[in-house]
Amino acid sequence: MEKIIITTSDSVSGIVVGGRWQAVVKLLPEKDAVIITDSNIADIYGDDFPDIPVLKIEPGEKSKQFKIIDSLAKKLLKAGIDRSGFILGIGGGVVCDVTGFLASVYMRGIRAGYVSTSLLSQVDASTGGKTGVNAGSVKNVLGTFRQPEFVICDTTMLRTLPDDEYLSGMSELIKTGIIGDRSIIDLLENNTAAIMRRERELLTSLVSKAIRYKASVVAKDEKEAGLRRVLNFGHTFGHAVELFSGVKHGYAVAAGMKMATLYSYRKDYISRKDCERITDLLKRYNLSGDINIPPEKMEKMIVHDKKRTGTEMNFVFIKGIEKPVVEKIPVRELIGFYKDYLKGIVVI
Ligand SMILES: NC(=O)c1ccc[n+]([C@@H]2O[C@H](COP(=O)([O-])OP(=O)(O)OC[C@H]3O[C@@H](n4cnc5c(N)ncnc54)[C@H](O)[C@@H]3O)[C@@H](O)[C@H]2O)c1
Repeated sequence: MEKIIITTSDSVSGIVVGGRWQAVVKLLPEKDAVIITDSNIADIYGDDFPDIPVLKIEPGEKSKQFKIIDSLAKKLLKAGIDRSGFILGIGGGVVCDVTGFLASVYMRGIRAGYVSTSLLSQVDASTGGKTGVNAGSVKNVLGTFRQPEFVICDTTMLRTLPDDEYLSGMSELIKTGIIGDRSIIDLLENNTAAIMRRERELLTSLVSKAIRYKASVVAKDEKEAGLRRVLNFGHTFGHAVELFSGVKHGYAVAAGMKMATLYSYRKDYISRKDCERITDLLKRYNLSGDINIPPEKMEKMIVHDKKRTGTEMNFVFIKGIEKPVVEKIPVRELIGFYKDYLKGIVVI
């Protein structure tokens, strides 16, 4: 079991990886604690939940809406939760984002912690303190920065995760390997079968490495003023793919990472060997689906991305494994690259 501490200017948050999630009961206050979870998690793990009130939301992105926050807030009021209360989110990225957002605005902020249950939320969503709900189809428009008091990542919970959700989370793990920790890539390359069998020890090691890297970035740049942007590797094209095709976040990010890798290669930022290593790894984990979004649509999606500034946008390239760089790129150039990618002009 490992404990990773995230220290920011105004908070200290502890992430426990590898222990059993049921130990969360020891971290809860004696009274006025409430669980937020989704109905899938409640069905599988509900019998072992601590004996406190449970508020359930529907699984999936449709629950990241302001009207769900409103309805949960009313339920907290009804349960008599005041500023000294505590919310425990037990679930994947959606439950963590909703719990974190609610905790940061309810009575101007109450305490919260997470039991993080999906691979995506363990390696990404529950570390770093970003919370958010969507406005219509635009993701995370309403959000806050708020570190939970604790996050518990029990990798045995990943055994019940559906295969497509598991691979979607794998994509963020691969991203972390590319931008921040080559030992993640080594493990993923050398232990593919065991990782696909979801062996606990390997997963605990991988999840800890990913969290350590993200924690180090967040500690230096909690509010995404600079360094933290590297975590968006693959996300510029990825968000557009997600919006257009509706594929799961990780699959879309994988498509975006492939494009960002080929773009980096085209600019002579990375060697052919590194380029092949990354594209092969994505293939190995079945994360190499084809993209066929018309360029005009791609442009529209990209300029709607909230990270855009004027006609230029920040794009994360790599100059080698563990060497991400953020550069301002004219949207026109980005779309030019994309057109060539579609025509097959950009190949390794
Ligand atoms: N805050 C951040 O920094 C951040 C970072 C990345 C992603 N996100 C957000 O996270 C969300 C995606 O997270 P997600 O992929 O975990 O989605 P999710 O929470 O919808 O979980 C995916 C599905 O898996 C189920 N599930 C979760 N854990 C399970 C388990 N152990 N066993 C069985 N089923 C399980 C859920 O019920 C759901 O149906 C998106 O909304 C995204 O915007 C946030």
